[in-house]
Amino acid sequence: MKLKKRRRAATIAALLPLAALLGGCDRRQSFLHPASHQSTDLAGLFWWTMGAAWIGLGLVVFLLIFSWRRANKRGIGKDTAGAKPGERFSVFVVVSLGVAVPLALMVLLFVIGDLLVIHTTEAPAANATKLTVQVVGHQWWWEFRYPGTTAVTADELHIPARTPVRIDVQSDDVIHSFYVPRLNRTIDAIPGRTNPIELYADAPGRYRGQCSEFCGLQHAHMAFYVYADPPAVFRRWLKNQERPAAAPKSAAARAGEQVFLSGPCSSCHQIRGTSADAHVGPDLTHLMSRSTIGGLVAPNRKGYLAGWILNSQSMKPGNDMPDINLSGPKLQDLLAYLEGLK
Ligand code: CUA
Repeated sequence: MKLKKRRRAATIAALLPLAALLGGCDRRQSFLHPASHQSTDLAGLFWWTMGAAWIGLGLVVFLLIFSWRRANKRGIGKDTAGAKPGERFSVFVVVSLGVAVPLALMVLLFVIGDLLVIHTTEAPAANATKLTVQVVGHQWWWEFRYPGTTAVTADELHIPARTPVRIDVQSDDVIHSFYVPRLNRTIDAIPGRTNPIELYADAPGRYRGQCSEFCGLQHAHMAFYVYADPPAVFRRWLKNQERPAAAPKSAAARAGEQVFLSGPCSSCHQIRGTSADAHVGPDLTHLMSRSTIGGLVAPNRKGYLAGWILNSQSMKPGNDMPDINLSGPKLQDLLAYLEGLK
């Protein structure tokens, strides 16, 4: 009885880490919850490979137990003069399981993976798509440009749902990797090069992406969202992004604009329609149309925005933005101005 209880406890203890591991799988950012035909193919490839690996493991374990029991029956260390048939069996095992089966599996995986599935993930020709988005990786945020329009945004990419979109990926500094697990495979962002890939979403929704190549201190905070909008909503969004910034409406906002333009903000950021046209940090023309700041480190709300302006180094150490020293009233004016940038 005691032994049974102990065994059960041991089994539960062994399964707990597995449960914790599976519990950690986030639906929001896993290619095992595909939302496009590309990721569906990749997930299929994963499950078939996994299945074959488990069958292989089962076979090896079976043979181990089988040979161990046979050796036990015969008695280990006894006279092995009559072991000829066993040796022949060993040769068969080595040739079949050690050479033939792995070779066949490798060829099969190569054909399915590299010749069939990889093609479905590739970018369509530039002239074959209605929409191309230029993606630029920076330490540590993403810039999204819509060629043919003046729209520029950061860390939140909008695309129309159920529409193939060509993504041209570039880098401004080091090697990054653009990855939206639920939509497609990774594509490297390499300085001096343009790497294209397709993004396609089966349904409207928000899909989380992440830089997947170590690129420095804040690599883990180089995340972004892809919003797949219904096409009409997307067109409206793009139209708004193309517009220059809204003029400040209140006295506080007008004072805030002056704080922005005369202070250090304008030497790094662009606000289209004003004299601020620097390109070190994200374009802020429509800052309030985004739900997050700093590569998804914080929600885009007044308190967080104030914290970011005064001391972004505590929120995202090592990022390019210096802490800005502002008096209380000046900060309030600046926030009033930024909050009007919709
Ligand atoms: Cu960019 Cu990691």
